[in-house]
Amino acid sequence: MFKGRTLITLVVTGGLLASLAACAPAGTSGGTGGDAGGTDCNVGIAMPTRSLERWINDGEGLKTKLEGDGCTVDLQYADNKTDQQISQIQNQVAGGAKILVVAAIDGETLGPVLEDAAGQGVTVIAYDRLINGTEAVDYYATFDNYKVGTLQGEFIEEQLGLADGAGPFNLEPFAGSPDDNNAGFFFQGAWDVLQPYVESGQLVIPSGKLSATNDDWKSIGILGWGSDDAQAEMDNRLQSFYTGGQKVQVVLSPNDSLALGIEQSLLSAGYTPGSDWPIITGQDADKANVQAILNDQQSMTVWKDTRELGDQVQAMVKSIVAGETPETNDDTTYDNGVKVVPAYLLDPQVVVKDDVESVLIDSGFLKASDVGL
Ligand code: BGC
Repeated sequence: MFKGRTLITLVVTGGLLASLAACAPAGTSGGTGGDAGGTDCNVGIAMPTRSLERWINDGEGLKTKLEGDGCTVDLQYADNKTDQQISQIQNQVAGGAKILVVAAIDGETLGPVLEDAAGQGVTVIAYDRLINGTEAVDYYATFDNYKVGTLQGEFIEEQLGLADGAGPFNLEPFAGSPDDNNAGFFFQGAWDVLQPYVESGQLVIPSGKLSATNDDWKSIGILGWGSDDAQAEMDNRLQSFYTGGQKVQVVLSPNDSLALGIEQSLLSAGYTPGSDWPIITGQDADKANVQAILNDQQSMTVWKDTRELGDQVQAMVKSIVAGETPETNDDTTYDNGVKVVPAYLLDPQVVVKDDVESVLIDSGFLKASDVGL
């Protein structure tokens, strides 16, 4: 077993060294900065924050994979502060990074620092979140963000029997951080399913906190994706608009961090799981939320196996190092305002209570002990 693993490591590392050696002559590269063919496997990974479980897993998982390939890796987290992320990227480039993997905090502000990096021959991969308004983003690896929202909207549609005409139900919709390009896709995917039921009167929004069109979702976005802010917003809606004994019956939450805050707010307001608890959506399969699913405090989560995203980025890095063009599967959807960024989209999947063991635990994504099983 041990010997086999060592052999595989040697073969993989050897393959990478061979490709590094082979890429010395000029070749072609899809990267902005890779005109001279292949490049060193020196990678800067810039992640948004350690405060959310998924980014810790993403960053550390990817670092381990790339180091296993013999790459030099610098991994940084920026405490959700854009200025900090910009200086981390500058330091990575100054320190010799030839490939940047960036999960942007703010999709609009990284243009200048990435353009400087591109000018120094660096290839940029946008990780999970698109980086807008710049030529200096070469590839994008993510999950199908619109589909994440569609899955949440369809889950609500099915649970409530909306397609069969059931209703009216009280809905409170939430959206993600207005500076995160993904948040718009999540909301639009869900709203394309749900809006017709708002129009037909089957879904009613007592707080009036809805976006009139699916383009002005930012007006109901929670900046920075914070649980505390989502909790405060839900407290406010419940205290101001649910005074006459009416109950909220469904909450569209774009992800798990928001869902956690909303669930706390419902508990404080006296809602009881299994009785008058509303349907609540989520995304990421964070441990606390999977426990909430097991305790009937959350109805579902959209699981994105971040290990697969890491594999995809690892494959992209290998291609760039070898002077080849990385494989992508969507070259039309992700227009960043300056160019359409070639993307590789992975498939998200719905997880409900019955799937926790067979999907999340059996696949090794979570340990049974992580979620109290
Ligand atoms: C990611 C989600 C995550 C959210 C908050 C989004 O860009 O795609 O998985 O829940 O950011 O960190």
